[in-house]
Amino acid sequence: MSSTAKEFDEKARGEFARFGTTRVHRGELLRHPVYTRFLHWSVAIFFVLSLLTGFAIYSPWLFKWIAPLFGGGPRTRALHPWFGLLFEVFFLFQFLNWFAPMAWTEADRRWMKRIRAYATNEDRIESEDVGFFNGGQKLYFWTIAVSAILFLITGLLMWFDNVVPRWVVAISLIVHDLAALVMLAGFIIHVYEGTAHQPGTFRSMMDGTVTDRWAWTHHPGWYRSLTGRDAREDYDREKNEQYRAR
Ligand code: HEM
Repeated sequence: MSSTAKEFDEKARGEFARFGTTRVHRGELLRHPVYTRFLHWSVAIFFVLSLLTGFAIYSPWLFKWIAPLFGGGPRTRALHPWFGLLFEVFFLFQFLNWFAPMAWTEADRRWMKRIRAYATNEDRIESEDVGFFNGGQKLYFWTIAVSAILFLITGLLMWFDNVVPRWVVAISLIVHDLAALVMLAGFIIHVYEGTAHQPGTFRSMMDGTVTDRWAWTHHPGWYRSLTGRDAREDYDREKNEQYRAR
């Protein structure tokens, strides 16, 4: 990322600290500062609004239920590209905010090979080379980045269909809808991972913190870089203490 974008991101983080604080108590670690949380929830809100209005345009059956929520068919149709644009704008800032920790590494390739063990909770704690984000989270991020570019290009071509050739509009429609289906699948998995599958994760996007235990369980590399302690040793110590306390 260029140094100008990095400087902007650092300045924005600093500015946002004035609008809210993140309290970190003993036994907790700071995961997402106010600026990151603001961007994440703005992206999420405009993504869901785009998805709902998009569904209404896509399917006549869903249209009956969703369009009235947005003031009827023509208004739903008119709002959809604006929700989409706002999603794009907030995601651009989110992209700058997370670009560095989302860089793909050799550890992520190894993580992808163990994805089945991750999904079935086979390992008690993650491998020690899992840093701030794991390979699955990075894959989701880059899928959104690619989809966002496709949405923007194809969306603009369809928005200005009076000046764009019909065959281009037709191809744009297919690409737009395919990108939406991929994003929908990713969104469902993401919400499951961020809530039910990995308890303790959701709070990181609410109050910005996670527990030490959560950090050494899911992101041992990040835990080590913050605390200087070994995740496996702390996990074993905690397990022994719990065993003795029985
Ligand atoms: C509305 C329901 C949603 C919930 C409950 C949710 C929850 C979360 C949580 C808890 C995290 C932090 C994970 C961590 O620190 O390890 C996170 C990260 C993230 N969220 Fe969401 N999110 C939602 C919607 C969305 C939407 C709509 C998008 C984008 C279209 C999105 C994109 C991301 C990305 C790219 C990350 C970082 C990578 C990852 O953790 O997968 N989220 N989300």
